[in-house]
Amino acid sequence: MSDQTILSFASKTAPAEGVVVVFAEEGPKLSPAAKDLDKKSKGLLSKAADITGFKGKKEQTVDLIAPQGLKYARLVFVGMDKASAYDTEDWLNLGGTVRGLLSGKEASAAHVFFETEGGDIKPADIASFALGALLRGYTFKKYKTKPRKKNGEAAEANDRTLKKIVVHCADPKAASQAFAPMRAIAEGVTLARDLVNEPANVLGPAEFAARAKALSKLGVHVEVLGPKVLRKLGMNALLAVGQGSARPSHVAVMQWKGAGAKGGEPIVIVGKGVTFDTGGISLKPAAGMEEMKGDMAGAACVVGLMHELAARKAKVNAVGIIGLVENMPSGSAQRPGDVVTAMSGQTIEVLNTDAEGRMVLADCLWYAQGRFKPKAVINLATLTGAVMVALGKEHAGLFSNNDDLAGRLIAAGDVTGEKLWRLPLGPKYDKMIDSKVADMKNTGGKWGGSISAAQFLQRFIKDGTPWAHLDIAGTAMSSVDSEINRSWGSGFGVRLLDRLIAENYERP
Ligand code: BES
Ligand code: MN
Ligand code: ZN
Repeated sequence: MSDQTILSFASKTAPAEGVVVVFAEEGPKLSPAAKDLDKKSKGLLSKAADITGFKGKKEQTVDLIAPQGLKYARLVFVGMDKASAYDTEDWLNLGGTVRGLLSGKEASAAHVFFETEGGDIKPADIASFALGALLRGYTFKKYKTKPRKKNGEAAEANDRTLKKIVVHCADPKAASQAFAPMRAIAEGVTLARDLVNEPANVLGPAEFAARAKALSKLGVHVEVLGPKVLRKLGMNALLAVGQGSARPSHVAVMQWKGAGAKGGEPIVIVGKGVTFDTGGISLKPAAGMEEMKGDMAGAACVVGLMHELAARKAKVNAVGIIGLVENMPSGSAQRPGDVVTAMSGQTIEVLNTDAEGRMVLADCLWYAQGRFKPKAVINLATLTGAVMVALGKEHAGLFSNNDDLAGRLIAAGDVTGEKLWRLPLGPKYDKMIDSKVADMKNTGGKWGGSISAAQFLQRFIKDGTPWAHLDIAGTAMSSVDSEINRSWGSGFGVRLLDRLIAENYERP
């Protein structure tokens, strides 16, 4: 659910009630608004700072309830180190931190006085702050039928009382203009998180396809290909994964033509959409299997991104393609040892039915190149557990056949905080998936599991197509709490690819 709190921008002198947030930099150096309130409260703020050891450092806060001499319910004093050293990600995270502080404050309005001792803050940075605040306000409460108890989950329950956040700044008009595209980003990330958090009984391949279809409302051209069409196209690798499920497989193709004919060939983003991954006949262990409802996070990111691009009317030609299947064991499921012919004509020996994501992507990647002749193809997939062994949950794995594309992606990751770490590809790794009976096998043995998975994908990339594969198994689901996300699904990739496109593929 998106943050229902209304966010707006106002001048610095606007009247304020409820919770007031002011900033201090290292020192503590109070912002003008903080100084003013300190004066009005006869030094209460500096006294409180003194007593609590508040030095204006990041993560330090002072929280005053009904401060004497002031009409506010609450005054929160937030430390920020040195504002002049802040980058985009710092502003974003500060927004998340402040939004977190506002939860459970039993006030309907919050007023953030956006300035530092050093002066006013740039509109773009205010916009990043506001985006961080919106993202942190996300909760997935769809299946909670009763309001939560005060103890335990008090913060979220009390959140309902917070109706609006007003950001007071020097140029509210400029801030609000800079924020417009951020609103679209927040919607895209929210959509991606909602899809990842949704349980698999509710969200199967057909239901997911319907969610993609709903993007038509924004002017995205969406086609949903059902099992009959997929069979005709020869997408046998994708279909083999879904054949054990009672729920038919689908592929959704989403086209956003924001750059028109002059924009040329599109950039294509492909997502793994395994709506539930039991492992198939190579069944996964019971413990933690519920997490495999998130095995469609790549596809969720693609839908979130297409929403975002359309919502901000991005001047880019972009296509999203998602392979939607459920990997189940049953009498009709594929067996280890089966050989299938992928759409490209290459044959795959299925050694492990749990290595299903690469089979789904193989056909989607081939289809993408054949139909769209793309400028670049990027795929996202919760592809391997091994990527978490290598990189933990801090970086997504990046594999690419193109140094420029890899560099652009890494740069976008640094700015957005959706960080990537490049891992190698090469002929020796490629050899690992040679098969005795078919052109390739779908697993590469014990070591370097993320790399052999990437090599498998690369066998479906034509020479000359710039391609990158993002293994997001560690970053998109079962997420570590951060300043801008407290939900299980993070929506990883939407902000990253928005940035990549804005910087490199959009017409001015
Ligand atoms: N969806 C899983 C990968 C995964 C694991 C994602 C944990 C998120 C969290 C994928 O389909 C899978 O099962 N991969 C296997 C590959 C192996 C059978 C070669 C894996 O990583 O163990
Ligand atoms: Mn699997
Ligand atoms: Zn999987």
